[in-house]
Amino acid sequence: MSALHKVVVLGAGNIGGSLAQRLAEMDLAEEVALVDIIDGLPQGKALDIQESAPILEFSTQVTGGTSLDALEGADVVVETAGLARKPGMSRSDLLEKNAAIVRGHAEAVRTKAPRAISIVVTNPVDVMTYFFREVSQLPPQQVFGESGTLDTARFRTFVAEALHVAPRDVTGFVLGTHGDTMVPILSLTSVSGVPLSRLLPPERLGAIVERTKQGGGEIVSLLKSGSAFYAPTASQAELVRAVANDEHRLLPAAAHLNGEFGERGVYVGVPVVLGRRGVERIVEVELTPAERAAFAASVQAVRADLQVLSKLGPG
Ligand code: LAC
Repeated sequence: MSALHKVVVLGAGNIGGSLAQRLAEMDLAEEVALVDIIDGLPQGKALDIQESAPILEFSTQVTGGTSLDALEGADVVVETAGLARKPGMSRSDLLEKNAAIVRGHAEAVRTKAPRAISIVVTNPVDVMTYFFREVSQLPPQQVFGESGTLDTARFRTFVAEALHVAPRDVTGFVLGTHGDTMVPILSLTSVSGVPLSRLLPPERLGAIVERTKQGGGEIVSLLKSGSAFYAPTASQAELVRAVANDEHRLLPAAAHLNGEFGERGVYVGVPVVLGRRGVERIVEVELTPAERAAFAASVQAVRADLQVLSKLGPG
């Protein structure tokens, strides 16, 4: 028996298609529904994924279509729709266009799937998650954004490479916004419990932090059109699985702050416990003074984007 009845993936671009594939292969839901405005794209990708079922031995039914009626009966919705960055663009440059797309989807979730746990990945993700929550009117616990799991995966990859250790043994947190001011929390990073500061000299660590901050941009400039999707969808699938199986995972995600970390009325990456009800709680870990200052600056960057958003009209 699958853990979920239905996961709806909004947007069938590189992210949506890859995510649908991962979710189907993980057999987490009876149905994974791909939705996109471009007729043929969601149907084609869904059918292509479905035809891999006999070989990969999953029983999830993968469907595709253009109608948001697919949201009816969704347990989990993943908002991936929107434009991706091109070389030279920041995630914030996407704000206006992607807000228009997210608005329509969030309205549809409000009427068709008000009980769904909604995971937003459209960039700039912290702001889009805030906006999705506002328009959908879902309880904040039900809406969170992907950010830290992806940035942390990049950070862990680079640390593992530098130390020649298994990537899965590196754990840690990248908090704050999913943008240039993200904050890799070195005080909370270890390799199987051994603090990173005992394994790598500060200048190597500094270089890894910088590469992590530019991690999305590094892929964008290599691909030249479009942005990363393999690591992003691995991270998104991890989030969906945490919800589907009620895993109570402690992971970084963009969550609604209501006084935690001294911030209020903003979505930004913090450590959360994720389960079937969404964000079960925010874990207010202690940060060093320097990390706290960097986190505050990161929140300021999100607030600046929220200002731009508020000029676009009410949610
Ligand atoms: C990245 C984009 C998807 O970080 O935000 O790759």
